[in-house]
Order: sequence, then structure tokens, then C-alpha cells
Amino acid sequence: MPPLAAAGAAEAPALAALHAASMPPGAAWGAEAIALMLGLPGGFALWRPGEGFVLARAAGGEAEILALAVLPAVRRRGLGAALMEAAMAAALARGAVAMFLEVAEPNEAARALYRGLGFTEAGRRRRYYADGSDALVLRRDLP
Ligand SMILES: CC(C)(COP(=O)(O)OP(=O)(O)OC[C@H]1O[C@@H](n2cnc3c(N)ncnc32)[C@H](O)[C@@H]1OP(=O)(O)O)[C@@H](O)C(=O)NCCC(=O)NCCS
Repeated sequence: MPPLAAAGAAEAPALAALHAASMPPGAAWGAEAIALMLGLPGGFALWRPGEGFVLARAAGGEAEILALAVLPAVRRRGLGAALMEAAMAAALARGAVAMFLEVAEPNEAARALYRGLGFTEAGRRRRYYADGSDALVLRRDLP
């Protein structure tokens, strides 16, 4: 698999297009929102252009996945897992000792991916998403 590249604010429109094509209708983030998140302390993104990306933040010894998206046409080829592994390595290099993320309870694909990577449930946010579903807070120690 070719290596993943770092994406910065200049890539925010391309990341937003990938997000819109990967997420359910109404859940897409615009380029401005993505650029803002990239500008947060410790914010970073890794991507494979035209296929998928991960947006994360590592600050204060902890890291968080803010977004993970892979285009439907290229799913189940290992890119989601590769993006997560790369984000965890980058967070570790930035001094993080744990990675957190939120996932919608009905999102079986993402939950299976995270389970396979060793994430476990650390909490629940009731009715967190617009469709009324709960968010599960998942955690994994780094490395
Ligand atoms: C979740 C997502 C990023 C997975 O990307 P992907 O590139 O298909 O993931 P991978 O190919 O690396 O899958 C790794 C493992 O995750 C699990 N998995 C991934 N998709 C799955 C699915 N649809 N059903 C069940 N398990 C799945 C499997 O264990 C898979 O390993 P396998 O293919 O050897 O069985 C992708 O489906 C996506 O972009 N979904 C929409 C956005 C989203 O939900 N993002 C996460 C928000 S928290």
C-alpha cells in the first residue's frame, strides 16, 4: 500500500469533499470547519488523496480522532485501519499516551474496525447525534 501523506489547511477543501462523499447525508463537515480543527493545538491530518483521511488531535498527553472517512468505493481494503495506525503513531510521536474517539452506536463498520485495533468502551453520551443515537467513547492506550 502506498504511504499516507500529511494534509494541511490547503487540503481542507479536498478533505471536506472526501468527508461529504463518505458520511451520511447531513453529517458532512465543510472545509472551514476542517481547517479550524487542523488549526487547533496539536491538530493534524493524514490522507490518501482521493480515497480517505483521518483528522486527529494530540495535546496534553492525550489524543483524539476527530474524523475518519474512506470513500465507499475503496472500503474493506485496509485503508481505514492504515489511517488509524498512522494517526496513533503520529499521536505517540507527539507525546500522547492514550487515544480517544467517539462512534455512533449503530455504526457497526467503524465499531468493528476500532475493536480490531484494540479500542474498548470508556463511556457513553446519550442521544449525542442528530439521529438520536448514542455516542460510544472508545479508548486505547498508546502504543
Ligand atoms: C469505518 C470506515 C472508515 C472503515 O474504512 P475501511 O477502509 O473500509 O476499513 P478497513 O478496510 O481498514 O477495515 C478494517 C476492518 O474493520 C472491520 N470493518 C470495516 N468495515 C466493516 C463493515 N462494513 N462491516 C464489518 N466490519 C467492518 C473489519 O474487521 C475490517 O477487516 P476485514 O476487512 O479484514 O474484515 C469506513 O467504513 C467509513 O468511512 N465509514 C463512514 C465514515 C465513518 O463511519 N467513520 C467513522 C466515524 S467514527
